[in-house]
Amino acid sequence: MAIPVIDFSKLNGEERAKTMAQIHNGCEEWGFFQLINHGIPEELLERVKKVCSEFYKLERGENFKNSKTVKLLNELAEKKSGEKVEHADWEDVITLLDDNEWPENTPDFRETMAEYRSELKKLAQRIMEVMDENLGLPKGFIKKAFNGGDGDNAFFGTKVSHYPPCPYPELVNGLRAHTDAGGVILLFQDDKVGGLQMLKGGEWIDVQPLPNAIVINTGDQIEVLSNGRYKSCWHRVLGSPSGNRRSVASFYNPSLKATISPAPQLVVEKENQEVEDTYPEFVFGDYMSVYAEQKFLPKEPRFQAVRAK
Ligand SMILES: [Fe+2]
Repeated sequence: MAIPVIDFSKLNGEERAKTMAQIHNGCEEWGFFQLINHGIPEELLERVKKVCSEFYKLERGENFKNSKTVKLLNELAEKKSGEKVEHADWEDVITLLDDNEWPENTPDFRETMAEYRSELKKLAQRIMEVMDENLGLPKGFIKKAFNGGDGDNAFFGTKVSHYPPCPYPELVNGLRAHTDAGGVILLFQDDKVGGLQMLKGGEWIDVQPLPNAIVINTGDQIEVLSNGRYKSCWHRVLGSPSGNRRSVASFYNPSLKATISPAPQLVVEKENQEVEDTYPEFVFGDYMSVYAEQKFLPKEPRFQAVRAK
């Protein structure tokens, strides 16, 4: 079983209805799908690969070798007790935001990633408009909800991650299983080195590497807004003994001040429905405070925690 691959360019032609339906199915049945012909220039994607790999070599590789996770894994492996690394990931990661300090020592990193982020933000907004339409919501509904009204206050971040070769992949995760907290996630993953898996029907399924595709998945806030129609799904990254997996994930999330609740158009009151079975209304910043503590745990208690506030 492979996750759906959708030709995004068909959205503008004769196959529009079919493509809309494919995206709806990707959101409703999978929570993960891959876009090809998404309109991000190949030339830009090639530059992103180049600068991210150089960035790891020049500015991150040595740090990672000396990191706590590497020491911990080596200690456990020496003990041969079978004990696994539990509270750490075999991942090197930095997050890029518009107004954060960015790496300076890698040639062209800053310019290329700024250009990439601006393209990806536009793609995220197009995908949200498709979701609006597929859910029967007014155009711009999700964007507006994430902005906390009009304007452009949404949180747009980009995580540049590397998963270096791991000598004992059976003892540590590349990234532990979780659902994403936010809205729409757009992942540009390695052409060759896999490892990303999503959970569907109790089975872990590989998110197959497909050169220059953009993998889309939806986070907990889309689940709330859609009143459970588009559920966020569990995913994880497995370590690999060979290859340094590159992964660039961009997040279009609500503003921390935005109030999130199910879209009224999608709420159908059911008889005898328990309060716990409904999605709460909350301020996204409060949700993120809970998520910071509970990222690798089930999401339902997170919804309950913000309901109680
Ligand atoms: Fe994630």
